[in-house]
Amino acid sequence: MLEYQPDAVIVDCTVGQGGHSLQLASKLNSDGLLIGIDVDPDSLKVAKQNLAGLGCQVQLVKNNFGNIAGVLEALDIQRADIILADIGISSAQLADPNRGISFRFDGPLDMRLAGPASTEGQTAADLVNTLYEKELADIIFQYGEERRSRAIAKAIVSARRDNRIETTTQLVEIINKVFGYQGGGHSQKIHPATRTFQALRIAVNDELGVLERLLEAAPALLNEGGEIAVISFHSLEDRIVKKDFRANKDISVYDIITKKPIIAEHQEIKSNPRSRSAKLRIARKLADSRRKDKNEIESYRRFA
Ligand SMILES: C[S@@+](CC[C@H](N)C(=O)[O-])C[C@H]1O[C@@H](n2cnc3c(N)ncnc32)[C@H](O)[C@@H]1O
Repeated sequence: MLEYQPDAVIVDCTVGQGGHSLQLASKLNSDGLLIGIDVDPDSLKVAKQNLAGLGCQVQLVKNNFGNIAGVLEALDIQRADIILADIGISSAQLADPNRGISFRFDGPLDMRLAGPASTEGQTAADLVNTLYEKELADIIFQYGEERRSRAIAKAIVSARRDNRIETTTQLVEIINKVFGYQGGGHSQKIHPATRTFQALRIAVNDELGVLERLLEAAPALLNEGGEIAVISFHSLEDRIVKKDFRANKDISVYDIITKKPIIAEHQEIKSNPRSRSAKLRIARKLADSRRKDKNEIESYRRFA
């Protein structure tokens, strides 16, 4: 689907265990370069093994894709032909109890994608134990689209007066009480903790902020004819991508390749149920000559 030459520079912003990278970079020759970025050192270790047989040059970098410009600068690469971001978490991260991302496993309430050994950033436990009730409610409402956000925030603040909330199980029990949920029943479509856990993970990793930084940096980092592809799992992220591509189309920076987002096919959903909410959008950078001049862009921004 993505178009590039065998000597292309491909930046996989979320290399994970290397699945997409392997597919894309197997078409590159020895002049081609794959740059694989991930915040998670455990994923990078697996990616290194999985990508070992590629015939192109490979650089794996532990960093946040929000810093994509700095990553490329450090490697002395001015422009890329493909920028791919498959944002969110991997199944391995979700299934790792030590990361505390899933409400299904008992573990420390951490949620940092960089992993529990990281010394950077706040954990989910830091947020639930220190934020004001209103701040917590806003996070749970905005990032989790949870209608009971205020009641959940209130219950968290009340519970932490007795004991610091350190584990996923403690938090799940607090949320279950708010919903009067005792488990096992089929009346709820999703587990009551789903949205709150998602919201906290998005907040801990500033997932919407780093996506915006990536999208802002991308036009200057793409060669003419180069493509950016973003796979998102959440409507909030997809909205950000859609808005950015449209704004860049309006000033003739991008052509939008996917008029509608591409969604996973039945077979893929069967083998990977999480792909059911994935949306792929692709844009191609236009030639400079097709871009409106700076004044025109400025006046467009003022009236937009
Ligand atoms: C859905 S998985 C990617 C899977 C990958 N496409 C594959 O085929 O194996 C998302 C990956 O992105 C990483 N990630 C998420 N946000 C990131 C960020 N802001 N910067 C760098 N990596 C990030 C996660 O650590 C995770 O490994």
